[in-house]
Amino acid sequence: MERTFLMIKPDGVQRGLIGRIVSRLEDKGFKLVGGKFVTATEEQAKRHYAEHEGKAFYDGLISFITSGPVFAMVWEGDDIITISRMVIGKTKVTEAQPGTIRGDFANHTPLNLIHGSDSVESAEREIANFFDENELSVYDKNI
Ligand code: CMP
Repeated sequence: MERTFLMIKPDGVQRGLIGRIVSRLEDKGFKLVGGKFVTATEEQAKRHYAEHEGKAFYDGLISFITSGPVFAMVWEGDDIITISRMVIGKTKVTEAQPGTIRGDFANHTPLNLIHGSDSVESAEREIANFFDENELSVYDKNI
């Protein structure tokens, strides 16, 4: 069983897309084990996007992600890191296919609605940046 960190960005929250995004992941059979609104601090946002420091879009990305509440989530499922990124779609909205979250709802690249971890190591680091372990629920999904 794998865990991932998914974060509905300020644009997704403001556009009222939390429910539809969560539904797509639930429909895929994944299990939501943690979720909360967070207005990320600059330090928290910089830790989250450390790998992008120095890139042309970095300052704008930090401003955007701290501009309002995000909906931070932890999800579980087999191969969820790879599969959730398929459900989310490509980072660049010009490449995001219809049928994906970004392909169906986003039309501007920094405002691409949702972040998903790209590896097990990133997921562990990103989850720890937003959640304490005791905020994650344990329950049987097959009842
Ligand atoms: P995300 O999946 O959260 O990972 C890094 C984010 O940086 C990405 O989604 C976009 O929001 C943003 N991003 C990536 N590439 C670009 C780019 N070329 N121009 C602007 N923003 C970008």
